[in-house]
Amino acid sequence: MNAVIEQLASHRSIRRYTGRGIDDDLLEDLVRAGQGAASSSFIQAYSIVRVRDTDKRARIAAAAGDQRWVREAPVFLVMCADLLRVARAVRKSRGEQLAGWTEHFLAASVDVALMAQNVMVAAESVGLGAVFIGGIRNDPMTVSEVLDLPEHVYPAFGLCLGWPDQDPEVKPRMPVDMILHEDRYDAARVECDVDRYDDIMREYYAARSENQRTTDWSTPTANAVQGKTREHMLSFLNARGFLKR
Ligand SMILES: Cc1cc2nc3c(=O)[nH]c(=O)nc-3n(C[C@H](O)[C@H](O)[C@H](O)COP(=O)(O)O)c2cc1C
Repeated sequence: MNAVIEQLASHRSIRRYTGRGIDDDLLEDLVRAGQGAASSSFIQAYSIVRVRDTDKRARIAAAAGDQRWVREAPVFLVMCADLLRVARAVRKSRGEQLAGWTEHFLAASVDVALMAQNVMVAAESVGLGAVFIGGIRNDPMTVSEVLDLPEHVYPAFGLCLGWPDQDPEVKPRMPVDMILHEDRYDAARVECDVDRYDDIMREYYAARSENQRTTDWSTPTANAVQGKTREHMLSFLNARGFLKR
């Protein structure tokens, strides 16, 4: 294993930070590292809004279910999928409008995720801790209004960054043989695979040093997925010019 692979395997979300700030130069380096990610057709369909203003931060934290770390993180970034520049390029070179194709929504969503993951990995490489915040999609219209996001831009998720004030264990991932298929997808294995992973996670939750729980993977996963359907997303995205066809 090399240092990069070891670092990737040691990721854990950090939700408690010391009071130390993050230098602007370092933040710029992290954003540049984010921009190093591959980009579908090189559209670079993302923007980042750093939320410094305390009132705006509080409004976004409330919209995101009042997660303490959103209020407290030294740096909070809103990672946006952004087709505004692409729309300009289409209008400029072909005189056409961007028509809200599902494919373009997917390309922008993948682009922003790859960029954001690069930012997180770069941050962790210098000792920072980080956690993504999908909670902002509880109320994406409020987040868009607070940040003046235009049409063709949507807030995909947030990113809290700070110097860690906790040292949680790494959560065991699914065994590689559950994820890596050969030549064909073997759907017949799913029941047995989920049972196996439930055993692994039950053991992890019972033994971890903080916040021990009696649960497995299926139970919280089912609750999270069924509890977070965010029915407003399709109409919100439609109103911002996405997913129209
Ligand atoms: C897109 C995305 C959104 C997330 N949203 C939240 C969130 O709103 N609040 C939170 O505390 N963690 C959030 N997380 C962190 C996950 O809960 C975490 O990555 C997962 O439980 C695995 O734990 P680990 O990151 O410590 O390995 C999010 C992660 C991703 C990838």
